[in-house]
Amino acid sequence: MKDQLEQLQKQALAELGGVNSEDELQSLKVRFLGKKGELTAIMKGIGALSPEERPLIGQVVNAVRDRLEEGFESTSLSLKERLKNEKLSSELLDVTLPGRRTPAGTKHPVTLVIEEICDIFAGLGFLVAEGPEIELDYYNFEALNFPKDHPARDMQDTFFVQDNLLLRTHTSPVQIRTMIKQQPPLRIIAPGTVYRCDYDATHSPMFHQIEGLMVDKGITFGDLKGILTVFTSQMFGSDIGVRLRPSFFPFTEPSAEVDIACVICRGEGCRVCKNSGWLEILGAGMVDPEVFRHVDYDSEKVSGFAFGMGIERVAMLKYGINDMRLLFENDVRFLSQF
Ligand code: PHE
Repeated sequence: MKDQLEQLQKQALAELGGVNSEDELQSLKVRFLGKKGELTAIMKGIGALSPEERPLIGQVVNAVRDRLEEGFESTSLSLKERLKNEKLSSELLDVTLPGRRTPAGTKHPVTLVIEEICDIFAGLGFLVAEGPEIELDYYNFEALNFPKDHPARDMQDTFFVQDNLLLRTHTSPVQIRTMIKQQPPLRIIAPGTVYRCDYDATHSPMFHQIEGLMVDKGITFGDLKGILTVFTSQMFGSDIGVRLRPSFFPFTEPSAEVDIACVICRGEGCRVCKNSGWLEILGAGMVDPEVFRHVDYDSEKVSGFAFGMGIERVAMLKYGINDMRLLFENDVRFLSQF
């Protein structure tokens, strides 16, 4: 019987060595030490032993049970440790690895130019004003002294919504809306989206303008030229040449178109300026008395100037973009350069 017990201990310890999970360990324990286990089975033979042998075998049984319990206990501990280490190494995380950044967006070049222009004019005391993109004919044309048969009203230029409702073709209606609400003196700058039925490398059906308007007592053409010269030198550099050419707009008199020396060739003549050395950037002029009449300003008492600038044009010149359509295609490879 003693041999049997020793054999059992050897067998149990050997099998313990190959245990790989808590479940295996439990069923092994039940098999050897459980109520119906192998040790119990052997102990059933004790009754048949002689009274002298019983205590001796009893001691061996206890020793084997202690040895096995200790074996199960230590195997359980080392198994837990092993499983924990395996888990840790399989879930290993190197916190010193560089993180993966979500790429941050950039501002659109049109937005950048609007902000820069507004900043420059804010420094000259101009406040930002806004108006609706769906506009009444009255503000877009009528009050700006466009005669009823003016070609700019033509379907080929203007997107009409209804008879008297259209997508504004310029930011000039903000002049009217501002003057109706406010009395002079005033100085405003009005950036916004405008629409014209036109599409090629230098025209888009949707584009942006910035309108400027200054009205006060005694404003002259000299003020207009001075303000615009400060603007162009801050925007394009102090040495940039500026030229005013006579022009015509129904809502300004006299009117001018303003050129800057070509930013590419600095006046030498190149493909961008079509060899003229100059680039047109805005239209401007003294507010026509007829416009003042529509907003109830007394043109005997106040005078003013207005100007309107195409943002995309300025952005193209400033960043050397050769096709306006790039500004609206939303190609990230293009946009991320700004
Ligand atoms: N609104 C004119 C245009 O779109 C520009 C302009 C504005 C001209 C203000 C003179 C004064 O062409």
